[in-house]
Amino acid sequence: MAKVITEAVTSIHHWNDTLFSFKTSRDPALRFENGHFVMMGLEVEGKPLMRAYSIASANYDDQLEFFSIKVPNGPLTSKLQNIQVGDQILVSTKPTGTLIADHLLPGKHLYLISTGTGLAPFMSIIRDPEIYDRFDKIILTHGVRTVSELAYQEVIEKELPNDEYLGDVIKEKLLYYPTVTREPYRNQGRLTDAMASGVLPKSLGLPNINPETDRFMVCGSPAMLKDTCAWLDERGFTESRHGHQAHYVIERAFVEK
Ligand code: A2P
Repeated sequence: MAKVITEAVTSIHHWNDTLFSFKTSRDPALRFENGHFVMMGLEVEGKPLMRAYSIASANYDDQLEFFSIKVPNGPLTSKLQNIQVGDQILVSTKPTGTLIADHLLPGKHLYLISTGTGLAPFMSIIRDPEIYDRFDKIILTHGVRTVSELAYQEVIEKELPNDEYLGDVIKEKLLYYPTVTREPYRNQGRLTDAMASGVLPKSLGLPNINPETDRFMVCGSPAMLKDTCAWLDERGFTESRHGHQAHYVIERAFVEK
């Protein structure tokens, strides 16, 4: 069993009634790769109650950041959503995960396909300077039901392009495609449909998706993963397994909290 340490909450942001993010202190000894997840939670009635959470901050940041849903009767999130600055959270010391750039074959375009809180690991990855060395374009997608669920939009569209260190390369290489399924919005419909119709690459000025040049990281609900993988498999993309390089990697967004 991995050791569990405590960290203190430093800030909290509620996006809407169902989503929030928070930051905590970070033990410098906690090492992780951008895209990794870790067990995180609270002590409840004297016992640790922990779930898998992707780390949304970059591995060089001196704080940890998490992005969570609020499940009204969820054992953990019904309590976690009420945390305040200064409260203690629990973090395991063994981050892990499959959304690792090393597991992908070299390519030109890296598509980050996410729905809901599946965005979290990609918020870490888009702050990784190395990812911009590996690919010409990084396409960050986020599929949600309502406009208010488009968390991190300001960070992606305003803060990151003006980042002191990464701003220039982000302006040149990072493309953002938010899409909403249950309300009017500039992009509407499921990501899988935008891929199948070709709307996704076309609206960003990119060529049709193909296994020669394009790589994928996918993070979302089990249904979304299944449909996205089926679509990729049909087009000759292969999934990386056991660390062997291939065309795509997937991680389940950990939703049952
Ligand atoms: P939809 O509104 O059509 O169900 P959820 O909150 O259920 O995880 O959904 C987040 C987003 O993912 C929603 O926009 C939802 O669209 C979309 N989605 C749900 N299932 C799939 C799927 N199988 N493939 C692609 N997108 C999906």
